[in-house]
Amino acid sequence: MKSYISATVFSQRETVGGHFLIVLKVPSSFKESLPGQFVMVRVKSCNHPFLSRPFSIYSVYSHGKNTFLEILYKVVGKGTEVFSRLREGDILNILGPLGKGFDLPSECDKIVLIAGGVGIAPLSFLAEYCEKDSNHAEIICYMGAGNLEALVGMDRINGICSVVKISTDDGSWGHPGSVTELFGRDMELYLGNDSRIYSCGPNPMLRSLHQLLRDQHVACQVSLEERMACGIGACLGCVVKTKSDGLVRVCKEGPVFDINSIEFSDHNG
Ligand SMILES: Cc1cc2nc3c(=O)[nH]c(=O)nc-3n(C[C@H](O)[C@H](O)[C@H](O)COP(=O)(O)OP(=O)(O)OC[C@H]3O[C@@H](n4cnc5c(N)ncnc54)[C@H](O)[C@@H]3O)c2cc1C
Ligand code: FES
Repeated sequence: MKSYISATVFSQRETVGGHFLIVLKVPSSFKESLPGQFVMVRVKSCNHPFLSRPFSIYSVYSHGKNTFLEILYKVVGKGTEVFSRLREGDILNILGPLGKGFDLPSECDKIVLIAGGVGIAPLSFLAEYCEKDSNHAEIICYMGAGNLEALVGMDRINGICSVVKISTDDGSWGHPGSVTELFGRDMELYLGNDSRIYSCGPNPMLRSLHQLLRDQHVACQVSLEERMACGIGACLGCVVKTKSDGLVRVCKEGPVFDINSIEFSDHNG
């Protein structure tokens, strides 16, 4: 069974307002991480209790003898706020890699990524992985955010994908409106057996993607971002309802699921 281990902060910087990229020096076992997997991160600081929070793996790579793990995150509350104050050399505890990642695409021509906000993190890792793999599929990305300032991870995704289409809720960049609306306009292009769709973002976004794809026969996997306490299947704090398997734990059976297997009710987002 996995247990928490120490990781050292190698660097941390704010990428766009309220969003940070932290690079951690981790044991070489993390090289086995797969796109869609996540880590639980625990920070102890003098004025705060232990906080354990889940984050997708944004990237893992080796340089010389060292292995580095990157996390791209948005500050939304006390845990991420404490996290954002960490500096080079600080130590934190991480558990992972955890969960079941994306089914990696094989024998397809188009890989379509649909990201809302920091939902780009696991999708960017997937794109990086597919690019390195011998799979020569075209990678297309639809990215959405509230506004221009909240568009994160653009540099990396632009360097990997052949097409990147942007939407912002306030129209400050790209299509004015939601990313699912933007994707919906092109959807016909991706309904064949030669396409695989992957998505991650806030639950309302995934719910509207589910509505859009409901009557289509297309392979679409989504990574869910439920609140988690233990991350290892023990507390049942992260369950969601599925159509055929009842309640499942997002941390253990997921976080990646077939979009059609999830009951997107009000409770499930
Ligand atoms: C598998 C997984 C992967 C994730 N990957 C990333 C990532 O790569 N980058 C990133 O920025 N975030 C990611 N998250 C979300 C991240 O875990 C939460 O933002 C974080 O736990 C918030 O902690 P906090 O203490 O700052 O906020 P809290 O003080 O706990 O909460 C502040 C606010 O954020 C809301 N909130 C907290 N957790 C979540 C959540 N999981 N989903 C939606 N709203 C939430 C709360 O309802 C509250 O309104 C991921 C979550 C999961 C389950
Ligand atoms: S977070 Fe504890 S069971 Fe999933």
